[in-house]
Amino acid sequence: MPVRASAPGKIILFGEHAVVYGEPSLSLALDRRIRIEAEEAPDGTVVNGEPLDPHRHAYIRQALRLAAPHRAFRLRNESDLPSAGGVGSSAALSVATVAAALRVVRGHAAPLHEVASLAFETEWTVQGAASPNDTSVATAGGAVLLSPDGRDPGVPLWKIERGERTWNVHRIELPRLPLVVAHTGMRARTADQVAIVRRLLDTDPSAREVLRDIGRITRQGVAALLAGDLSRVGALMDRNHACLHALGVDTPQLARLTAAARAVPGTYGAKLTGAGGGGSLIVLTDNAADVQSTLQRLGASAFAAVAGARGLEVSP
Ligand code: MEV
Repeated sequence: MPVRASAPGKIILFGEHAVVYGEPSLSLALDRRIRIEAEEAPDGTVVNGEPLDPHRHAYIRQALRLAAPHRAFRLRNESDLPSAGGVGSSAALSVATVAAALRVVRGHAAPLHEVASLAFETEWTVQGAASPNDTSVATAGGAVLLSPDGRDPGVPLWKIERGERTWNVHRIELPRLPLVVAHTGMRARTADQVAIVRRLLDTDPSAREVLRDIGRITRQGVAALLAGDLSRVGALMDRNHACLHALGVDTPQLARLTAAARAVPGTYGAKLTGAGGGGSLIVLTDNAADVQSTLQRLGASAFAAVAGARGLEVSP
């Protein structure tokens, strides 16, 4: 009987890109998932009936290399998440693949911390740089805060280290948030967007100050969320978006969509979510229906998000 694993996508409320450089980030698991089935195969890994393609299946290949080197698998996967869409499909795929492969080779489920850490290494290798944000929220589910020094709110779950950096992963209880998620329809590879920010940092040292600003906004955003002050949360989302614009990962289409969403009465704030360059935006609003129809008129596909969903699940 094949092993089944599933993991959720995510939205980043605050802190994308800056978290790669040691600033905090806050994310929620989405109620949209990737599901994978895995069993050992006699020779050569096969994905959805076709031999593993090193380019198309880069995350699966790297996840298997780390979790179960020299073993071959028959894998099937399906997804509710747009790929390269800013909502964590590669992280969910890495987490589900690592967890399924470890379960097959060991005969029992691996600890969540081990899965999160190997899935992070998978993303790091494929993307050239990453933070453990996306893979940690895909593993833990709910709301996750990455804290550089461990002094931010929440219950510590695990710690992930790489080079000089340490990320303390905390679970945090948040009130249910009225969010709309919209996909621009434009795919953008996280690796390319991370490279844009890295080049900017190499050529313009003042960009470091933008990252620090995002860190401050994230901490203020967490405080506003815990105080239930949605107006302040929305204003901070707008400011976070402006910082991401300054880092070069906003696009004219994302700018148009976030501006249109902000103009809808009942909206608190809007920002791109994830790596940018296309992908998705999130809107905090009491008027989800009007925001959805406004964004849809402008060509995006929008849905009211149930955020804070279940994390990794493995069976049997
Ligand atoms: C992408 O969803 C989030 C980034 O911060 C990259 C990462 O943290 O690995 C852009």
